[in-house]
Amino acid sequence: MARIFIVEDDLTVAAMLRHSIASQDHEIMHFTDAEDCMGNMGMRPDIISIDYNLPGMNGIELMMRVKEIDPMAMVILVSGQETREVIVDAYRKGASDYIIKNESLNANFANAIDNLAANVRLRKEVEVLREQIIDRHKYSSILGNSQAILKVLKLMQKVEKSNIMVLITGQSGTGKELVAKALHYNSNRARKPFVTVNMGAIPEDLVESELFGHEKGAFTDARERRIGKFEEANEGTIFLDEIGEMTLHLQSKLLRVLQEKEVTRIGSNKTIKLDFRMIAATNRNLANEVKEGRFREDLFYRIQGFLIHLPPLEERGDDVILLAKNFLSDFCLNNRMSQPELSRETISFMLKYKWPGNIRELKAVIERAAVLCENNTITPEDLMFVTA
Ligand SMILES: Nc1ncnc2c1ncn2[C@@H]1O[C@H](COP(=O)(O)OP(=O)(O)OP(=O)(O)O)[C@@H](O)[C@H]1O
Ligand SMILES: [Mg+2]
Repeated sequence: MARIFIVEDDLTVAAMLRHSIASQDHEIMHFTDAEDCMGNMGMRPDIISIDYNLPGMNGIELMMRVKEIDPMAMVILVSGQETREVIVDAYRKGASDYIIKNESLNANFANAIDNLAANVRLRKEVEVLREQIIDRHKYSSILGNSQAILKVLKLMQKVEKSNIMVLITGQSGTGKELVAKALHYNSNRARKPFVTVNMGAIPEDLVESELFGHEKGAFTDARERRIGKFEEANEGTIFLDEIGEMTLHLQSKLLRVLQEKEVTRIGSNKTIKLDFRMIAATNRNLANEVKEGRFREDLFYRIQGFLIHLPPLEERGDDVILLAKNFLSDFCLNNRMSQPELSRETISFMLKYKWPGNIRELKAVIERAAVLCENNTITPEDLMFVTA
């Protein structure tokens, strides 16, 4: 169902249009002049049908005014005028359809509305999905009540709406990527791209073109132009994971990109201005890397603008049980299994264990135990630790 405005000063035509789409299930409102229509834009119509010859303002003008108020509104122009110039002008300025008032008006109008309504439906579905993705990555996905994790959440709230660069540190499996996503999806950039690049996973000779892109023919294998990750992340967030793995050469390039906020594709001499927020993560001790000459000091100071350190699971007290129960219930729900209990011995064992693989290890261990356990109870024996 779409919300449709019909702007038409001729009451007979208005009634005809309304009638032609009566069998489709829409909410229709009729206005006889432009002012009235604009005054009601707060109702967020999906589709606006505009008569070309309105008193006081022509249809194309009104179209431009309503699109200024709501760029997503789709406009159909209905007109007795058939000159090519007017039609081209209408489409160029953003009309979704242009219908001539002739004997097929009713059928054409019904058709146009049907098509656009399908569009509206899709758009609404995408919107719902997008909101779901955003919800999933909000802070509620970061579980824990320990002082250690609450401190992290507090820090996150301080920087979520700013563009400040954030460096996330912590051992493997402590949730660095989860935190990076939560920062993005809580920021003003939530509806723009979140682009992850794992610096440890890209072969050295490809990494520059991966980050900055290249033009066709820039090097032997460059058969097509390629957009780099920084460009992809424009208006959004770029997450550079394992930043400690970057070569010194690449570090100096990155430094320049961060200072100038622009990139140059390989094989091009044109710079492209970008607006991105960078979040970086590492499980290395970067200060140490600087001391050993493996990481540029100037880059280090630049990216450490704001440091969020994720404590190892071992330092999060009872959180281990809370996390375990959550992973367990998620897993059992997804696999349609009944949810086993954690025995008392299991709980005290889990509280004492060091969890070198942190939350990732906990998750793997719990899921495995859920499958292995008998009598609907997880015993310490079921926790066959996956890490070495
Ligand atoms: N506080 C938390 N609450 C719920 N799930 C968490 C939490 N922290 C981490 N996880 C989960 O643990 C797993 C590992 O997290 P993530 O991939 O973010 O870790 P990482 O620090 O990036 O690890 P690595 O350094 O190995 O890349 C993911 O499945 C993540 O969803
Ligand atoms: Mg990670």
